[in-house]
Amino acid sequence: MYNTKKITDDLFYIGSDDYRLTLFENIHPIQKGVSYNSYLLLDEKTVLLDTLDWSKGEEFLAKIEQVLAGKNLDYMVIHHMEPDHGAMIGEVLLRYPQVKVIASKQAFVFMKQFGFKLNEENMLVVKEGDKISFGKHELAFVGAPMVHWPEALVSFDTTTGTLFSADAFGSFGTLFGRIYDDEFDIEKELLDEMRRYYTNIVGKFGMPVQTLLKKASGLDIKMICPLHGPIWRTNLGLLLDKYNKWSTYEAEERGILVVYASMYGNTERAAASLASKLVDKGAKKVVVYDVSKTDISTLISETFKYSHLVLASPTYNAGVFPLMHNYLEDMKALSVQKKTVGIIENGTWACKAGEEMIKALGEMKNMTILEERVKILSSMNEKNAEEMDKLAEALVKSL
Ligand code: FEO
Repeated sequence: MYNTKKITDDLFYIGSDDYRLTLFENIHPIQKGVSYNSYLLLDEKTVLLDTLDWSKGEEFLAKIEQVLAGKNLDYMVIHHMEPDHGAMIGEVLLRYPQVKVIASKQAFVFMKQFGFKLNEENMLVVKEGDKISFGKHELAFVGAPMVHWPEALVSFDTTTGTLFSADAFGSFGTLFGRIYDDEFDIEKELLDEMRRYYTNIVGKFGMPVQTLLKKASGLDIKMICPLHGPIWRTNLGLLLDKYNKWSTYEAEERGILVVYASMYGNTERAAASLASKLVDKGAKKVVVYDVSKTDISTLISETFKYSHLVLASPTYNAGVFPLMHNYLEDMKALSVQKKTVGIIENGTWACKAGEEMIKALGEMKNMTILEERVKILSSMNEKNAEEMDKLAEALVKSL
């Protein structure tokens, strides 16, 4: 027996948790793992909604067989063709050769690129506005291009008010038995991994997410079934509010994120000194990270979260410290915007880090760089202490 869950009388969760994978997309650490979600609808016609990652293929096929209990599989909807959801298409086709695959035109192009062999009779192309009835249930298809791939579709079950949302509204983290949002403590167990997933995977595409949210606002949504993380049936308001903030690059919290790089501890001491002054001057939320010790996906997530940012870096190879450079490049790539930024630079000779950081920030939208800057020559001196006071004052004033 394989673990499946009945969501409604005729809709089943047949996803799997992956706690063995260390890096999602071979780049983002997932200490809490990830779930790949798939759903199976048993109506007059049977409908599989997306597949799973190859690593979970064996149990996935067994789960389909278990839930179908002797029925045939009539349809397979592919909302999104990235291999963590589309990898099992070929295996499903082998076992259920008569199945009709429903996907966008571009998803079929991608399927062929990934090497799946589909016959014309297996393919049913859908686009925005198309509706297909499977008996009691009707799916209305809605385009979600660039959330976060161009072929993405979502579908809305008009009978039950269920949105099958592809990667939108997904999260890192395993489920292990709890499949609904209300079975988690959202603040303690979900929010950080939701934000880290959104900002690193979808964060670049704020405008397309806004377009999708506008389309979703016209639907009477009762439940959201994403391809990662829990099914949302209770705290939909919270979820939509977070997505609206993240996709408009508005901070969730007025607070100061200090990210520093330090080779021998002098810039670290400067960052610590600033943090202390900020707290003394009344800042309620100050968080400090060492860029060399913190995964960049966490830094990005925290950058989206807070309104203010301080970057402190030594000069390295006549530029900024390499890991700080990577962080800035990632900020740029993920469209980070709307921050008030303070700069602390260090250099024993030819101090260049500040100039480089300001140049990179200048390539992002709506970044306010404070004029009060701290320039350290090797280690903090009395002049730096005064500069630091002024920077702390300016940051707290602008909170
Ligand atoms: Fe979870 Fe874009 O694949």
